[in-house]
Amino acid sequence: VTEWFEQWFGEEYLKLYPHRDEEDAARVVALMARHTGLTDRRVLDLACGPGRHLEQLRLVGAHAVGFDLSMPLLSRARHRGSATLPVVRGDMRYLPFGAGSFDVVVNLFTSFGYFADDAQHMAVVREVAAVLRSGGVFVLDYFNAHYVLTALVAREERAIGSQHVVIERRISEDRRFVVKEMHLMDDGRRFVERVRLFTPAELEHLIDGAGLRIRHRFGDYEGRSADNGSPRVLLFSERP
Ligand SMILES: C[S@@+](CC[C@H](N)C(=O)[O-])C[C@H]1O[C@@H](n2cnc3c(N)ncnc32)[C@H](O)[C@@H]1O
Repeated sequence: VTEWFEQWFGEEYLKLYPHRDEEDAARVVALMARHTGLTDRRVLDLACGPGRHLEQLRLVGAHAVGFDLSMPLLSRARHRGSATLPVVRGDMRYLPFGAGSFDVVVNLFTSFGYFADDAQHMAVVREVAAVLRSGGVFVLDYFNAHYVLTALVAREERAIGSQHVVIERRISEDRRFVVKEMHLMDDGRRFVERVRLFTPAELEHLIDGAGLRIRHRFGDYEGRSADNGSPRVLLFSERP
């Protein structure tokens, strides 16, 4: 069976998320630069997508490698900006890098929580821990489930670029996922996104379970502290 995340992250994803731009990427990279240091560090951008953070990481002097499952998004990442950026294709549950290969691993803009079974989410964090050197840092940037539950817009109709799109959002019956359906009205296609409603405490539990230690928690890209009203949660953890 093809999983939703194998189908959705291609050209249509890029068209429907045009507001996720360079500026947004530069803000989160600046936050990471302040709190972990990035210059001359070996950085893995796990689920790099079209590479907007890779380019910013390169600009602050990091040696960044992009990793993603989507061929169309990786080819964007590779030819972004002036340089050719190193990218690797694969599945985040099985990282093809040696133990201790990276100083920093980042997973940005909710590029996690896509699997049906939580053992697979745990497997991802364990893979991250294995490729980090001792003292290396993992940065996880996820939505805040408390905020998503109060702010959920059930139905929305919008023009995005040249597309007329109806977006429907709901919480799954078992309450474990937020499900977003996008209907492209012009050609009748529909796409679905299904992301695990992990609370910040559950994310910390996963990170802790992989042997990493939480060092910082933020509620947005400006570095404000996290509470139930924060739109996001950014967890910085360290491999002992
Ligand atoms: C929401 S996008 C974010 C991309 C990028 N981090 C950004 O902020 O622009 C999530 C990314 O996760 C990738 N992805 C989904 N499932 C994956 C998997 N099992 N292994 C590796 N990458 C995956 C998708 O291809 C997509 O590029």
